[in-house]
Amino acid sequence: MNTFWKDLASRWPISTLAPMDGYCDSPYRQIVKKIAPETVVFSEFYSADGIVHSKELQRKALTHHSSEYPLIIQIFWKDPAMFAEAAKIIEWYGITGIDINMWCPAKKVVKSGHGSSLMINRDTAFKIVEEMAKAVKIPVSVKTRLGWENHSLLTEFVQGLENAGASLISVHGRTYKQAFTGRADLTGIYELKQHVNIPVICNGDVMSYEDGLKKIIHPEGLKNLDGFMIGRASFGNPWCFLPGNYEPTLGEILDVMKEHGDLLWTCKERKWMMEARKHLVQYLHGFPGVKEYRSSLVHVESPVDIYKVLEQIKRDHKDLISQKISSYNAESQMVTWGDCAVD
Ligand SMILES: Cc1cc2nc3c(=O)[nH]c(=O)nc-3n(C[C@H](O)[C@H](O)[C@H](O)COP(=O)(O)O)c2cc1C
Repeated sequence: MNTFWKDLASRWPISTLAPMDGYCDSPYRQIVKKIAPETVVFSEFYSADGIVHSKELQRKALTHHSSEYPLIIQIFWKDPAMFAEAAKIIEWYGITGIDINMWCPAKKVVKSGHGSSLMINRDTAFKIVEEMAKAVKIPVSVKTRLGWENHSLLTEFVQGLENAGASLISVHGRTYKQAFTGRADLTGIYELKQHVNIPVICNGDVMSYEDGLKKIIHPEGLKNLDGFMIGRASFGNPWCFLPGNYEPTLGEILDVMKEHGDLLWTCKERKWMMEARKHLVQYLHGFPGVKEYRSSLVHVESPVDIYKVLEQIKRDHKDLISQKISSYNAESQMVTWGDCAVD
């Protein structure tokens, strides 16, 4: 079996950017890697069927920059043969690993037998992993939840995935029924870690590298988890992947906003504007005068428009340019679940 994840786990901890639809595109992954190069970045999810049948989707989803390595592409579907075909294409593009979405609780996804529903269609889930692991040499991992209603079957499920050839499991500390409510609970994930040999990563409400580190250490001294995933807390705050609770200066934030805007312009062509607006407004959480700048940012039409807003901020806050902005990491600023909400 490919030892990529085990090798990484031996250099504990594994810190990862969670897969997020509408966010984890190549420009965002490049920004995260530039700031925190040790991070393993996951992509948005793509349908295996789309990867197999659409050259356009292949180009959009699988074209990447070498700075993104190790890069994991996430796919969803329900048919093992389609997964295996998609896996071969992903491998051909030089991607580091493939992750299977057994996580998404959106009604339309579950109704069609994809995402979270694979937690209850276990034989299909195992077959998918088996076929993919046979089809490619790169590692195949799975992202899932605690379970359908509780975590009583999590260990058995993951043991089945491990036997089928999965080489990493990431678990979001909420059940399907909880969807996006309540707090992420890691109890079941610590339990799972005692019973499997593949690395185990936790996910849900992790605010920063330091917070992740605290969460993966077992409270009673049993085996620690191998790593953590950070999702929403990274929006507009890619510094959250750095050890030591790093706080960027205003100057650093503005430079990264410019770079992020430029990358989106280069990679995304016509879809650029919506993407740039969505990402850039996130960088100014809790900043004085934020409303005015945000309303300018949501109207940008070109990189020049972005540069104008950034220059305005610099002029208005000359005295703050080299000051650290400590308003990050406030949980109240976490965005809502957006695209993956149960509908
Ligand atoms: C906008 C958005 C899109 C998401 N898309 C995906 C996805 O494509 N695949 C996936 O496995 N999880 C997806 N997730 C879930 C995240 O990977 C993660 O499990 C969840 O946000 C909890 O982590 P957090 O509390 O650190 O945000 C998405 C979450 C958000 C907020």
